[in-house]
Amino acid sequence: MAQFSFTDDLITGNALIDGDHRKLITMVNALFDSMAQGHANDIMSKVLNNLIVYTKEHFGREEAEMQRINYAASLSHKSEHTKLIKQVLDLKATVDRGEKINVVTISSFLSNWLREHILTVDMKLATALKQRAQTA
Ligand SMILES: [Fe+2]
Repeated sequence: MAQFSFTDDLITGNALIDGDHRKLITMVNALFDSMAQGHANDIMSKVLNNLIVYTKEHFGREEAEMQRINYAASLSHKSEHTKLIKQVLDLKATVDRGEKINVVTISSFLSNWLREHILTVDMKLATALKQRAQTA
C-alpha cells in the first residue's frame, strides 16, 4: 500500500500547522497499514477512532487561529473540516457494522483530500497568519 509522504510542497511555514500535519499523515499511514494488512474491523475501528480524535483536535487548533485573526475565509475553511469529519465518521460506522471497505477508494480519497486541503486552504490560512504576525 502506498504511503502518504509529507513532501516539501506541503510545508506551509506555520510551525503549529506543519507539526500537526506531520502527525496527521503518520496517523493516516497507520490506517493505510491497518487496511492493507487486512486487519479485523475492530482493530481498524480503533485506528480510525484515533485518527478522528486527532483530526478534530487539529481542526480545532486551525479554527482557533482563524478566530484569533478574524480570518475572512473561515466559514468555507471550517465547512471543509466539517465535511471531512463526517465522511470519516461514516467510514467508521461502516467498519463498525462489520462491512467490507474498499481499501483503494478510501486510501486515495483520504490522500487526495489531505493533499488538496493542505495545498489550497491551509496554505492560504498560513499566509494570512504570517501577514498578521508581521503587522502585529
Ligand atoms: Fe484546514
